[in-house]
Amino acid sequence: KFSVVIAGGGSTFTPGIVMMLLDNQDRFPLRKLKLYDNDEERQRILGEALAILLKENAPDIEFSFTTDPEEAFTDTDFCMAHIRVGKYAMREQDEKIPLKYGVVGQETCGPGGIAYGLRSITGMMEIIDHMEKYSPQCWMLNYSNPASIVAEACRVMRPKAKVLNICDMPVGTLRRMSQIIGKTPKDLEVRYFGLNHFGWWTSVKDKEGKEYLEDIKAYVAEHGYLTQIEVDTQHTDPSWQDTHRKAKDLLAVNPRYLPNTYLKYYLYPDDVVAHANAAYTRANEVMDGREKTVFDAAKAIVAQGTAKGGEFHIDAHASFIVDLARAIAYNTHERMLMIVENQGAIANFPDDAMVEVPCIVGSHGVEPLAQGKIPVFEQTLMYQQLMVEKMVVEAYQEGSYQKLWQALTLSRTIPSAKVAKAILDDLIEANRGYWPEL
Ligand code: G6P
Ligand code: MN
Repeated sequence: KFSVVIAGGGSTFTPGIVMMLLDNQDRFPLRKLKLYDNDEERQRILGEALAILLKENAPDIEFSFTTDPEEAFTDTDFCMAHIRVGKYAMREQDEKIPLKYGVVGQETCGPGGIAYGLRSITGMMEIIDHMEKYSPQCWMLNYSNPASIVAEACRVMRPKAKVLNICDMPVGTLRRMSQIIGKTPKDLEVRYFGLNHFGWWTSVKDKEGKEYLEDIKAYVAEHGYLTQIEVDTQHTDPSWQDTHRKAKDLLAVNPRYLPNTYLKYYLYPDDVVAHANAAYTRANEVMDGREKTVFDAAKAIVAQGTAKGGEFHIDAHASFIVDLARAIAYNTHERMLMIVENQGAIANFPDDAMVEVPCIVGSHGVEPLAQGKIPVFEQTLMYQQLMVEKMVVEAYQEGSYQKLWQALTLSRTIPSAKVAKAILDDLIEANRGYWPEL
């Protein structure tokens, strides 16, 4: 049995992940489950509710929550990390500052992602150091954002650390694709290349080797990744609806492969900005929605003294984290899309790029699978974005204003050096205390 710590214990995603872990006890049994956060108050509210839930449903799992790194990381086999440095108040700044200048405001793409990246690096290095100090055998399963910049910072600043970087977006899209062709994700095997939140599927086959790429493309060209139920009922979150519908425009400009929906921020930034509400962004939606629901549910569980009939919902799609932990723990050689050092996986792309490609995961870590050469259109877009991400990490290490200005100027989301500078100066102001001195 395993001992797990969730870093970012006060996150609104934590209850769903804990429920998912409970649901997977036959596949990935726990002896200890700990929450770790530096925000004592937020974590306490969730922790007290989860303590009740665990006592009722899994009394054998030793559960605790702490702000003390020694307690969190001692005797720990896996750290599941989903930290958000600066929380939603800073996400709101990441989204709203660029929008003031007519530029994409998003938490992982463009200037918002860069700003968040510069905050995340410090937080990530801290928890990696705690992990290595108190449990050198521990693996970190990291899905903290912005994943590309975080992964590059780990590669450069902690090259030997046992950190595995993964994003749930490909998992989510594969689920949509499987629904489109009437399969389940586990029936399918994909080929994919890209950077995180920036890539393309080049093949979607079933276990018998039948290729579905053209079928899915034909569907996406018409509906985007909206499944038939969503097309018929329009019942999901409107901003997610828009995102999945937009995939058809991405396919129109580049019909070769199936796009990751995040490419809309780079290929159609003008449309994205035109549809954005600069006074009420995704951070506001989440603060008024998920934040309230989850914390209210936790308080209700504590007030009633029972989690029976409680409002915590299992985050079933987060079970890819269990697949990943199992791959390491039981050497399952599961094939998963991971963010790893390229080293030839994409033949005509830099070896030291952190790319997202299918990998085989086992007890010794991650082995990327060769994806061959990529076409000029995709390669050029990726190279430009890669250099933005690398320069952000260099700017962090060097405390360089100049390099950060250049990185922003190179981002496809920003029209000029002038706009880049104006956004940068505002972001510096907003991120005082979070960013290194520039
Ligand atoms: C997807 C992405 C994550 C991102 C999340 C944002 O799952 O893969 O990287 O953090 O969306 O979701 P939210 O509901 O907070 O906007
Ligand atoms: Mn992601």
